[in-house]
Amino acid sequence: MEKTPFLLLFFTLLLLNSHPIHTLSPPISPTQPPSSAPSTTISSTLDPKQLRALQSLNLPTTKDPCSNHNAIHCDTSKPFRHLLSLRLINCSDDVSLSITALKSLSTLQDLQFIDCPAAPVTFPSELALNIKTFTCINSLRKLTGVWLSRLVNVTDLTVSDVPIKASGPVIILAHLKKVNKVVLSRSNLTGNLPGKSWNSNVSHIDLSGNHLKGKIHSSMTELENLVYLNLSSNQLTGELPTSIGDLIELRNLSVSSNSLSGPIPESLVSIPSLVSLDLSSNQFNGSIPKFLGDMKGLKYLNLEKNNFQGIMPFNASFIKRLVVFRIGDNANLCYNRTTLSSKVKLGISPCDKNGLPMSPPAKSSSGDDSGGGDDDDGDEDSTSEDATSQKGGGHHGPNKVVLGVAIALSSIVFLIIFLILLSRKCA
Ligand SMILES: *[C@@H]1O[C@H](CO)[C@@H](O)[C@H](O)[C@H]1NC(C)=O
Ligand SMILES: *[C@@H]1O[C@H](CO)[C@@H](O)[C@H](O)[C@H]1NC(C)=O
Ligand SMILES: *[C@@H]1O[C@H](CO)[C@@H](O)[C@H](O)[C@H]1NC(C)=O
Ligand SMILES: *[C@@H]1O[C@H](CO)[C@@H](O)[C@H](O)[C@H]1NC(C)=O
Ligand SMILES: *[C@@H]1O[C@H](CO)[C@@H](O)[C@H](O)[C@H]1NC(C)=O
Ligand SMILES: *[C@@H]1O[C@H](CO)[C@@H](O)[C@H](O)[C@H]1NC(C)=O
Ligand SMILES: *[C@@H]1O[C@H](CO)[C@@H](O)[C@H](O)[C@H]1NC(C)=O
Ligand SMILES: *[C@@H]1O[C@H](CO)[C@@H](O)[C@H](O)[C@H]1NC(C)=O
Ligand SMILES: *[C@@H]1O[C@H](CO)[C@@H](O)[C@H](O)[C@H]1NC(C)=O
Repeated sequence: MEKTPFLLLFFTLLLLNSHPIHTLSPPISPTQPPSSAPSTTISSTLDPKQLRALQSLNLPTTKDPCSNHNAIHCDTSKPFRHLLSLRLINCSDDVSLSITALKSLSTLQDLQFIDCPAAPVTFPSELALNIKTFTCINSLRKLTGVWLSRLVNVTDLTVSDVPIKASGPVIILAHLKKVNKVVLSRSNLTGNLPGKSWNSNVSHIDLSGNHLKGKIHSSMTELENLVYLNLSSNQLTGELPTSIGDLIELRNLSVSSNSLSGPIPESLVSIPSLVSLDLSSNQFNGSIPKFLGDMKGLKYLNLEKNNFQGIMPFNASFIKRLVVFRIGDNANLCYNRTTLSSKVKLGISPCDKNGLPMSPPAKSSSGDDSGGGDDDDGDEDSTSEDATSQKGGGHHGPNKVVLGVAIALSSIVFLIIFLILLSRKCA
């Protein structure tokens, strides 16, 4: 019994001691940079011409940029190192790219502009030919197809949120024979979606958020290394090529928000690695093929806002397995109430005996009115589920706080008792 106060005293002393240690630590850290600085001066430094070019771009060059900057990478050549990669982020408005600076930066293979509103200038050809990775996100104000087509050795091209003036993507792609990753998104690109003129080796295509017209040519399905295809938010028409299943490496496919029509091609079933399929906001019609339910890797399936019809073929265990499943706003689609409980909110009506939707959805904009008369059931279930999940999460949080407060209070009480006892003994 008498040991507890002593333990508590020991504990409080420990707590008090730990504070001075904390307050001591800040004065130690400022002494660390100077100790690491000498090591950087040992290795060879950046070519003075390139150093001046970096200074003209308002980049801090007080320390050796090659060893101190996460936006810069250099080679290891001697006596001077040369730049291999450079990333310009959040440039101030007055940053300007000069031909002289860019000429001396011609050793760059990787050049990135992110939120950098400098005016674009024509790259010296040596730089244009050297670049393998070019990224331009919300930067350089405005580009042209001709400007981009000069980067003939580029393997990884990302241009996003930058208007590109060109008669079509072909102007750019026809010149980039080595490109494996093409992102030209939200770039106001017009013209037709190219069928040929892709590097046959291309693995990643994102042309989303432009004004591209035309159809998806079956020749695109010859791109056997294609892993990612995003054509969402354009003005594409026609059907998905029946040979789309030839894209056997494909993992992510989005053609959402276009004017595509026709059925989901049967050949999709032969794409084993498909993870994400987004056909939403088009005019696709026909019945939804049952085989989609057998695609083991599928995690994301969005078929909403189309004209699909008939009985929705998926069961609850399939729907549960998906991370995202959307099927609402298909006026002629319904689900079988015998096989699928109305507790699963789908945004479509249950089927009648003839396999037709029982009542047209009252408010097409919200998925809440699914299931008509059974809606209450669903609501009850989901709210109770929510409540239990909240409870489940809450079990740890509040309990820990309560425990902490209890321990603190009891230690204070014990401490007071101990001090009283101590003062009596001393007295
Ligand atoms: C760029 O600037 C914005 C706001 O001015 C800031 O939130 C962001 O973290 C900056 N990004 C980088 C990479 O410095
Ligand atoms: C880039 O392409 C040009 C012509 O297409 C070629 O002569 C040159 O060797 C290439 N440069 C690199 C670094 O690959
Ligand atoms: C996008 O293109 C249209 C015409 O094609 C043009 O009127 C508009 O100004 C362009 N927008 C931007 C931001 O360049
Ligand atoms: C194809 O792509 C791979 C990597 O994605 C690359 O290593 C290879 O050189 C490319 N081949 C051609 C012919 O472009
Ligand atoms: C396709 O691009 C859009 C817009 O850029 C984006 O919101 C969407 O997540 C992308 N889809 C996939 C499957 O990555
Ligand atoms: C592909 O889709 C999956 C599932 O939605 C997603 O987690 C992943 O980020 C996507 N890949 C790319 C490159 O956007
Ligand atoms: C799908 O729509 C097209 C017209 O866009 C029509 O010709 C075709 O018959 C429709 N298919 C079905 C199964 O309704
Ligand atoms: C659900 O559907 C999948 C694919 O159609 C099937 O493999 C699975 O056995 C079904 N599960 C149940 C519980 O009916
Ligand atoms: C719904 O499923 C049940 C059980 O599988 C079946 O007997 C019934 O015919 C189906 N209803 C419709 C409209 O297809």
